Amino acid sequence: MTVKSKTLEMLENHRGEFFSGEKLAEKIGVSRNAVWKAIKQLESEGYPINAVKSKGYSLEETSDKLSLQGMKPYLGKSINATQINVYDSIDSTNNRAKELAVTGAEHGTVIIANEQTKGRGRYGKVFESPKDTGIYMSLIIRPDELPNIEPSLMTAYSAVIVADVLSHFTGENIGIKWVNDLFLKGKKVCGILTEAVTNLETGKLDWIVVGIGINVSTDSRLFSDQVQSVATALFDDKNVVRNHIAAEIINQFFLQANSMTQQKMMDIYRQKSIVIGRPVSVVSGTTNYDAIAEDILDNGSLVVKRSDGQTQELRFGEVSL
Ligand code: BTN
Repeated sequence: MTVKSKTLEMLENHRGEFFSGEKLAEKIGVSRNAVWKAIKQLESEGYPINAVKSKGYSLEETSDKLSLQGMKPYLGKSINATQINVYDSIDSTNNRAKELAVTGAEHGTVIIANEQTKGRGRYGKVFESPKDTGIYMSLIIRPDELPNIEPSLMTAYSAVIVADVLSHFTGENIGIKWVNDLFLKGKKVCGILTEAVTNLETGKLDWIVVGIGINVSTDSRLFSDQVQSVATALFDDKNVVRNHIAAEIINQFFLQANSMTQQKMMDIYRQKSIVIGRPVSVVSGTTNYDAIAEDILDNGSLVVKRSDGQTQELRFGEVSL
């Protein structure tokens, strides 16, 4: 662990409490100058640290910066914290996860960031990821390690898990818009981008990268006009919960994968669906058409009835309400 990580761990574990530079140096086993440098680094990354001459340093109780040290108290016993990599800013956690997957990352490795400068959504869309207000994370999965979940249903599984965790934290209904969006009160709060990494030589599906982007406390003015009209955040203001939510998603993702049956998972997915029984606009390739969403099958396909009475099963695609 670096001096910066150790300093942060001390401050995170005792939020609001002051430590003199000398005390921190002694506890960590480094020089006061090294502690001072670490504090400066943390401040420059945006950690709200109070420095008071006679008292020393303390992390504000309301700090909501994502960090491994902030997540640790909430991680389950079976989660290996050393596999969680937190970045202050990154182009895209999915990009980084894919790089790591092909260079030998372990199943269960997590990449998480306070900001993405090139966050990606489905179909090449941008996923706007403003700093310190959302959770942007990617999980690296080896399909063999999660035998209960078929790779083609990984997005549905992730949607069920994340919707459940977000409902728990907000006390609100979080609905799933087929196939990968989570909605709160009619607006999108979370998008999921699942990408496969295949072995070019064997053609085998080696890795799945599950990317999850959540607007936690994002002020809508931070979004572009286009996104503002369709997106919302979980909370109106800062809630000191990002570390807790992120840790709980990781816990539940790996915990439930061992016990959840595919049947149960798809039943929950249908229950949480906000499209079944409603008119939708289907985007299929370059054509759009109106239809009624009738059902979601166990293989994840959306069944729609077109206005001419024809029924179609959509395996992939996008619908809007
Ligand atoms: C969508 O809305 O179409 C999916 C959005 C997925 C966004 C997440 S944020 C973490 C991960 N990294 C990315 O670049 N994208 C995913």
